[in-house]
Amino acid sequence: MLSAERNETLTRYGAGTPMGELLRRYWLPVAITADLPRHDLRKVRLLGEDLVLYRLADGTAHLLEDRCPHRGVALSYGMLEARGIRCPYHGWMFDGSGRCLEQPGEPADAAFARRVRARSYPVRELGGLVFAYLGPGPAPELPRYDLFCWDDAIRDVGHATVPANFAQIMENAVDLDHVAWLHGRYSQWLSGRGLPVDIPRTFSRLNDEVSFERDEYGVLMRRKLQGQAPGGDDWTVGHPLVFPNMLRVGGGGSHSFHLRVPVDDESTWLLWYTAYRPGGVPVPDPGPVTSYEVPWRTPDGEFRLDHVEGQDIMAWVTQGTVTDRTREHLGTVDRGVILLRKLFFEQAERVRRGLDPMGVYRAPAPEVIELPQEQEKFGDGLGYVRDVLAASQARFSTRLADIRRRYAEVGLPLEGHPGAMAGPGLAGTVAARKRSRTGTGVAT
Ligand code: FES
Ligand SMILES: [Fe+2]
Repeated sequence: MLSAERNETLTRYGAGTPMGELLRRYWLPVAITADLPRHDLRKVRLLGEDLVLYRLADGTAHLLEDRCPHRGVALSYGMLEARGIRCPYHGWMFDGSGRCLEQPGEPADAAFARRVRARSYPVRELGGLVFAYLGPGPAPELPRYDLFCWDDAIRDVGHATVPANFAQIMENAVDLDHVAWLHGRYSQWLSGRGLPVDIPRTFSRLNDEVSFERDEYGVLMRRKLQGQAPGGDDWTVGHPLVFPNMLRVGGGGSHSFHLRVPVDDESTWLLWYTAYRPGGVPVPDPGPVTSYEVPWRTPDGEFRLDHVEGQDIMAWVTQGTVTDRTREHLGTVDRGVILLRKLFFEQAERVRRGLDPMGVYRAPAPEVIELPQEQEKFGDGLGYVRDVLAASQARFSTRLADIRRRYAEVGLPLEGHPGAMAGPGLAGTVAARKRSRTGTGVAT
């Protein structure tokens, strides 16, 4: 449980708030490269700030406050030209650094133009994502996390925006016990009620032991599954939450970052960034990093519970847009959640004292940051991939057939792979307990 005041601190991201200042010390994704063509602009919102992101015909991307410094009109309605963006109201033009290049209608006095600047923010691109930095200068290095640098893997990015506060979504990343329930047993139960859900069998095993430790990246999570022999990857390697907004997870040649980006205090942009290297070997001609949308609502507005991420989104949204932590009752399964909150408060305090928080890299930064990740996830790496492609957001990827084909080409056909272990068949008993009080969104 948190006090109302601490809950407020954890969930507010505007400029000047403790968490807002902490998150402004990191490069945050603001777009997917594939979705920002040349000579195009889009309105974006990040940490409660309205911004305009655009790419000029020369390929460079720029980010400005979505506000003309003349009289405040949204530059996202502006006209993109070769050198910058022209405000639609009176035609003032600004380059990517925010400099005012033209002021039609004003006397030809350069001094006035020099005094006027649109607020601009640095932008960098890496691994098919466009990152922005909204904090005080000088901007730190953009961390070169390994998957962003793998140009010999099939890479794609699923995305969705959901009406839930960033912190409760990050808390899910350190919640190892929800997996067997929300994605394992709950999928079985839904299936028993007629929802066409492909049950992720490898997700269904309960944990015997879990461990959450601070490491150099954030929180390293390890688990030993019930019935699992000692020495498995899940326990000896595990996977990290990369502070402040990324989960690394994968197995069987799939490697993912789950990135969470606060749009504002009440909505979060979700990115599922995956690199596939079937058999652990480089993929010839993998093509560019592609983008796909992840549907999480049914046509009648219910949650889509027929895939893993739809189930997660149901949990995050029904917790309340900004969940009320004064009313929660944390148990032993919440050790990771408690540790993550501690980290957020502690790192926000570092920023208040004028220090860099963890995960901020200054030059010379590592060329590539290799992150730990179990390969034989849930004791069956290939079963895990089969489950991910069939039952997670990955099933909406435009590369699905290509990914399956690449696995088959290296002698690892995913079709028919049974998964590590079927769940122990609680579907009937759980269904009997809950049938009367759950309205299920059956996808069509
Ligand atoms: S408000 Fe933008 S040019 Fe006047
Ligand atoms: Fe989940």
